[in-house]
Amino acid sequence: MEKEIELRRGEGILLRSPLRFEVLSGEVESWGVTIDETSVDLEGVELLIVSRSDVSKLKVDGSFGRISNPIPEWWLNLPEKIVGKKVMLIGRVDSGKSSTMLYFINKIVSIGTNVGIVDSDIGQSDLGPPGVISSKTIEEPILHTKILKPDFMYFIGDKTPNGHFLPMIKGSIEALKAVRSSTVLINTTGFVDGGAARALKRFKAEFLEPDIVIAIERKEGALDHIARSLPKDIKVYKVKSPVGKSAKERSYRIAVRRSLLRKFLEGSKTLELDLSSLELRNTYLFTGESKPDYIPFLETVLGTKILWLEESPDMLIVLTEGLPDRRKIANIADLLHKEVKVGTVQHYNGLYVGLLGKGRCLGIGILESIDLNKKSVRITTPVHERNIEGLAFGYIRFNANGEEIGTRGMNIP
Ligand SMILES: Nc1ncnc2c1ncn2[C@@H]1O[C@H](COP(=O)(O)OP(=O)(O)OP(=O)(O)O)[C@@H](O)[C@H]1O
Ligand SMILES: [Mg+2]
Repeated sequence: MEKEIELRRGEGILLRSPLRFEVLSGEVESWGVTIDETSVDLEGVELLIVSRSDVSKLKVDGSFGRISNPIPEWWLNLPEKIVGKKVMLIGRVDSGKSSTMLYFINKIVSIGTNVGIVDSDIGQSDLGPPGVISSKTIEEPILHTKILKPDFMYFIGDKTPNGHFLPMIKGSIEALKAVRSSTVLINTTGFVDGGAARALKRFKAEFLEPDIVIAIERKEGALDHIARSLPKDIKVYKVKSPVGKSAKERSYRIAVRRSLLRKFLEGSKTLELDLSSLELRNTYLFTGESKPDYIPFLETVLGTKILWLEESPDMLIVLTEGLPDRRKIANIADLLHKEVKVGTVQHYNGLYVGLLGKGRCLGIGILESIDLNKKSVRITTPVHERNIEGLAFGYIRFNANGEEIGTRGMNIP
C-alpha cells in the first residue's frame, strides 16, 4: 500500500521489497548514496533510506520500519581508513554484517576507488545463490548486492559450514583470487561460537590474510574470544552493532533464500546428463566397482530393495528404496571392516547441485531424478549443457517452488 511519510535529518526507514519509492521533497540516501526514486521487485532486498535534509517527504510502497538513528559513527569514519586494505567482517547472525558491507561498498566507491567483495556467508548470502561463496569487483555505487551478478562462484551446497570446512576455505581463497581490487570486504557466516567456529575463523584468517577484522558486537566483549583466536598481526576494530530489535524473522530468512534461489534458477531447462562423462564432487557414487551379485543377499539383510551397489577398498555404497535400520547397516560395516554408506533415492529428489565447468561453478540446479543403472540424471538449470563438465552434489533439497523439503546428510553417498 502506498504511503506518504516524512523523515527528519538523520532519521531513516528500512524498506523491504517488493518496494517502490519516490522522494517528493528534500534529499535522501539509500545505503549511503543519494537516491530519487526506485523500485525493486525481487523479494528479500532491504533498503536503508535516511534523510539528509531537515525534512524529507517520500512516497513509499512496501513494508517498512522506522529507525531514529540508523547510521553509526563508525559507518562514516571507517570506510576511508580501509581503502587499499583487505577487511574481514565478523559477527553473529543479525549483527549487521551485510548492512555494513553495503554501506562500506558505497562509501568506498564514492571516494573514487573500486572495491572487491567476497561473500562467504553461505547461510544468508548477499551476492550469490544460497550455499555458494561468491565474489565481485564493484566500480560504482549500488542499490543492493542482491541485484548484482557475481563474477565468481564456488558451490558449497549447504546452509551451514559444518562438515564443509575445507571447501569453505578453498572457496573463499578462490573467490578472493578472482577479485580485481586492493580494497576487499569479506563477509563471513554468523558461526562464531564453539571450538569448530573458532577454528574456521582462525584458519580463514590464516589463508585469506586480512589486514583488518571488523568485529561487530551487539554486546561489548561478545566477540573477544574470536578476536583473541586470530593471528596477532591482524588489526581488530571492535564496533557496536547498529541493529536494534529489528532482527529478521525466521520466515523472512526462508523467504529471502527462496527468492535468491529462484533468481539464480530463472530461465532453467531440464537437461538429461550422462554422469559417466562428468566430474562428480561431494558424492561417493561411482568411486567403486559395481557388485550386482551381492544384491540378493544384502536385500535380505537390509530388508529393502537395492537399486545400486558398489564396493571399493574402504567402502560399500548402497542405494535402496526404503531406508534400512541403522543397526543393520552397522552390522554389515562390522562384518566387512569397511564403512557402509546407504542412501535412498529420495535423498536425491530435489537435491541442490552446482554445475561446474572450466574449474568454476557456472550456476546452480535442482536434481529431478537419478538413474544409477543408466548413469544419468535429470537436472533443472539455466546453465547451458555444452559448458557443463562437472556436478557438485549439495546437501539441501528443494521442491519446484524453491521451498526446502529436506537434506542429504554427510553420510549419504
Ligand atoms: N543501521 C541499522 N539500524 C537498524 N537496523 C538495521 C540497520 N542495519 C540493518 N538493520 C536491521 O538488522 C537486520 C540485520 O542486518 P544484516 O542483515 O546486515 O545482518 P547480518 O549480520 O548480515 O545478518 P545475517 O546473519 O542474516 O547475514 C536487517 O535485516 C535490518 O532489519
Ligand atoms: Mg548477512
